[in-house]
Amino acid sequence: MQNFQGLTAFVTGAASGIGLSLARALLAEGANVMLADIETEALKHAVASLEAADRAAACGQVDSLICDVANADAVGDAAQRTIARFGNVHVLCNNAGVGTGGPLEEVTTESWQWIIGVNLMGVVHGLQAFIPHMKKHGEEAHIVNTASVAGMLCLPHMGPYCATKFAVVAMTETLAAELAGSNIGVSVLCPMWVRTRIHESDRNRPASLRGTRPVNVDPARRSEIAQVIADGLDPDAVAATVLSGIRSRRLHIFTHRENEAILSERFDSILAAFAGMPK
Ligand SMILES: NC(=O)c1ccc[n+]([C@@H]2O[C@H](COP(=O)([O-])OP(=O)(O)OC[C@H]3O[C@@H](n4cnc5c(N)ncnc54)[C@H](O)[C@@H]3O)[C@@H](O)[C@H]2O)c1
Repeated sequence: MQNFQGLTAFVTGAASGIGLSLARALLAEGANVMLADIETEALKHAVASLEAADRAAACGQVDSLICDVANADAVGDAAQRTIARFGNVHVLCNNAGVGTGGPLEEVTTESWQWIIGVNLMGVVHGLQAFIPHMKKHGEEAHIVNTASVAGMLCLPHMGPYCATKFAVVAMTETLAAELAGSNIGVSVLCPMWVRTRIHESDRNRPASLRGTRPVNVDPARRSEIAQVIADGLDPDAVAATVLSGIRSRRLHIFTHRENEAILSERFDSILAAFAGMPK
């Protein structure tokens, strides 16, 4: 896919951060974009800011809907409403995600349910809702699943996040094999720190999954994470890298050069486990 003009994109988690930047970049390239998110006020602001840019630069059209990606029916319904509004969907960005963590023995069952529902099942629901549609319309299409470099590396106190992001990498690599030779491209986005509101994810945690036991997050660690995120990459730069990844049909999209050395270390240490094995 080289040219986004007149195509339709569906972006989840589009009211903030990387999703909003993806929506902005796709609109600027002339695509019509449906923004899907759970956060009503932020979504209204996002649409208003994109519409202003749209009028100024004559890009594609923008619309929005409230959609909880953890709910399969809601995602199915959002897909139907997007098709009714803009016609065939060509770009799917399964981007919505949340963060929660702590020492593994302390992470509550509710936290696991929440993060698996959004980060893992949210992507599953997007694939279920859109792949049959993309196969049916037969036009060129591309799916981008947002994982993280935490889908390639294991970090202390980030067990639930890493587990769900490893799952997104695994699903996307599987999907790439399943769709090889088709005109549906597949990418997994693996950024490191990006300047967004991911560290404030609890703002969207459903009351039913808050749990009876307080989540024990070390305040020093919390402010350390807030700082690395504040110092992180501009989400607009991430979106530009994603569009270039779609154009070159790249499976793995990385955004931070320094991850190459960290990943090499991990892969070398895995391969070292074969040393000394009988041939
Ligand atoms: N910011 C980073 O450093 C970073 C790094 C690697 C990966 N990521 C991933 O990028 C993606 C986007 O996050 P971000 O950093 O832009 O954070 P963000 O909090 O700024 O944006 C996430 C968006 O997802 C929405 N959302 C949350 N739960 C939802 C649900 N159930 N249904 C629909 N929408 C929901 C939020 O309302 C928000 O608008 C996530 O998958 C995240 O894990 C972020």
